[in-house]
This record gives sequence, C-alpha cells and structure tokens, in this order.
Amino acid sequence: MQEPITQLEMDDVPFRGIVEQSLAGVYVVLDERFMYANDTFAAMFGYPRDAFIGRRMVDCVTPDSVDEVMRNYRLRMSGEVSTIHYFTKGLRSDGRIVYLELHASRVECRGQPALAGVAIDITERVQRQQELQRSREQLRELAQHINQAREAERTRLAREVHDVLGGMLTSVKFDLARIVRRSGAPEQQELHGIATDLVALVQETIDTARAISEEMRPTSLDLLGLPAALRQALDRFGARHEVTVALTVVGDETLLPGTTATQVYRIVQEALTNVARHAQASRVDLALRFEPTGLDLRLADDGLGLALSPPRPGAIGLFSMAERAHELGGTLSVAGGPEGGTVVHLRLPLCPPTATLAAPEPAAGD
Ligand SMILES: Nc1ncnc2c1ncn2[C@@H]1O[C@H](COP(=O)(O)OP(=O)(O)OP(=O)(O)O)[C@@H](O)[C@H]1O
Ligand SMILES: [Mg+2]
Repeated sequence: MQEPITQLEMDDVPFRGIVEQSLAGVYVVLDERFMYANDTFAAMFGYPRDAFIGRRMVDCVTPDSVDEVMRNYRLRMSGEVSTIHYFTKGLRSDGRIVYLELHASRVECRGQPALAGVAIDITERVQRQQELQRSREQLRELAQHINQAREAERTRLAREVHDVLGGMLTSVKFDLARIVRRSGAPEQQELHGIATDLVALVQETIDTARAISEEMRPTSLDLLGLPAALRQALDRFGARHEVTVALTVVGDETLLPGTTATQVYRIVQEALTNVARHAQASRVDLALRFEPTGLDLRLADDGLGLALSPPRPGAIGLFSMAERAHELGGTLSVAGGPEGGTVVHLRLPLCPPTATLAAPEPAAGD
C-alpha cells in the first residue's frame, strides 16, 4: 500500500542544494561584505565563488551606483524598510558592467543583522532596450532628415517653377501680345485669333505654374501667416474635391517661427491628402486655437473613419506627421470623431512671445 503524501517540514527541505544550484544569484551581506554567494552570483561578477566571498559591496558596483546601493543597504539595516526590490549596475572582474535586478531583505546571521538577497542578470534585456532606443532615435533622426530634405527640395523646385518657368512664360505672353497688336489688319484675322487664344492659354499656364509653386512652398505663409495660408489651402481642397470646408480660429494668432508654421502647414496638407484618398468625406472642419502656451489644431472629417479603411503596408504619412509634431516638441493623435469620421489633433507648445520673436528665422530660401 502506498504511503499518503505529506508536506515536507522546513527542516526536511534541502535548501543548501537548492541555493547552490539555483539559476538566480543568491547572496548574504554581513558588515557590508558578501559573506556568502552561490556560484551563479559570483559568476555574474566574473569570479569563482572563493575569490568573490569577502568582497566589499561598494567594490562590486559601478562608482555611480555606490551611493544608491549604500542608501538601500542602510534603509534595510536600520529596519526602516525590510525588503527592497531594485536595479543596479554591478562591476565585473574584467571591468564590464553587469545589470542586476535584486531583491534583498534583512535577516539575522550569527546573531547580527545581515542582508539576504536574490539577483538576476538582466544585462541582455537592458542591452536590447538600449539598442531599441538607439534605433528609435536613429529612425527619428532619419525622419527629421527626410522632412528637412523634402522641404529644401520643395523650396528649390517652387522657386524654379515660379521664377524660371514663370519668367519664360511671361516673356512668351508678352511676345504673343505683340503679335496680337500687330495683326490687326483684316487679312491677318486668322493669325490674330490664334495669337489671342494663345495669350489666354499662356496666362492659364502661368496661373497653373503659380499654383503649383504655391502648393510646393506657400509664400502666403510668410506674407499672411498660418491661418490665412491654411484658409487658402482649405479652400483649394474644397473646390478640387467638392467637399464643404470650414475654418475656425480662436485666440490671437501667435507669431510662429517660419519653420514651425511650415511644419504645421505640412501636417495639415498631409492630413487633407489623407481625407481625399481614404475618407470619402463630404465635410472637413479645421479648428485652430491659439492659447498663451500653445497651439491646438483639429482637423475633422465626416468620412468613413479609420476602422473601415485598412492601412496600406509601407504607409508613412501618419508617421511623418507625428514626427513633424515631435520635432516641434508637440504631440499628434489620429482617432475616430465623436460622430464618426476621423480627427487629427495636433498640440504644440509655443514659446512665450519674447522667445518666439527671438527665435531664428528660417534659412535663406524659406
Ligand atoms: N482621414 C482618414 N480617413 C480614413 N482613413 C484614414 C484617414 N487618414 C488616414 N487613414 C488611414 O490610415 C492609413 C495610414 O495613413 P498614412 O497617411 O500613414 O498612409 P497612406 O495615406 O495610405 O500612404 P502615404 O504614405 O502615401 O501617406 C491609411 O492607409 C488609411 O487607411
Ligand atoms: Mg497619407
């Protein structure tokens, strides 16, 4: 017959064997020295166990961790706190850092207060986090670089289209106007008609070139300020896509540095492109609120909403908008509106007026 299973008494448990082969580091600190360590704990510091025991705690952590380690030690030894869970940087025998997660409590040992603790080596996890952080920062820098390069390229192209192409077309128009003037005789009526049509066509081409140039680099931003430039963009959008548009501006327009205004304008431009491409909206509302501490901008459409429109692999529009906001120290969110549709919400902190005025103006070309 089988014996009934009974729970082991504490004295029956082979603690020593368990501790010695534990995959977690186990240690006891007495008088600020490691007076016991299992192999795992000693190996975390790169020592065989015998060479590790007796070492002072302060010699086993990086210099910048000493104060915190000693503070934690005293807190427990004084009885103020019985247990502490914390992270620290250990110093290995080869000078490398080992990141440790520790949990230690006050105990009695040989009649004296001591610390008994458990540690795990989290170096790999910390390094992965640091790598992830580094690649996030690199991605952010890349996005910033791309945005700046795009802006510079748009400015250059806008100027070429406006100055060079616009200039040439204007010369063509003047020459055609001369032909119109000099072809007044009855036998030149056909020529006169063609030249007159061509003047109108060239004028239309000049207007188109101007509109393209304006879209690439809105001079209205510098001349009229952000709300007026956005109104123009919104009106063009409404006419082109047959969408009702409305703009509300609350608060006094704060003087934005040129680069900030351009970034905000680009965010709205990208958001409007999204409305045209994905939303099937019939109405777009843009609300600007200038507050003493910042700018609050909401662009709401009454379209299909985000959930119904599956994201395209490789899409970067929203990412680039968020990065522009981040560059300006702001935040951007894109979410469903209370009555459907999509709302793009941008919040930007603005410098106090004096600092804003002192901010550097955009580089030549803006
Ligand atoms: N106003 C909107 N209404 C509905 N869906 C939207 C709206 N704005 C964005 N989306 C959804 O979010 C997705 C991501 O937008 P995002 O601008 O990043 O990419 P995209 O417009 O598809 O491509 P691109 O990289 O050229 O901008 C879109 O594919 C679309 O599904
Ligand atoms: Mg897009």
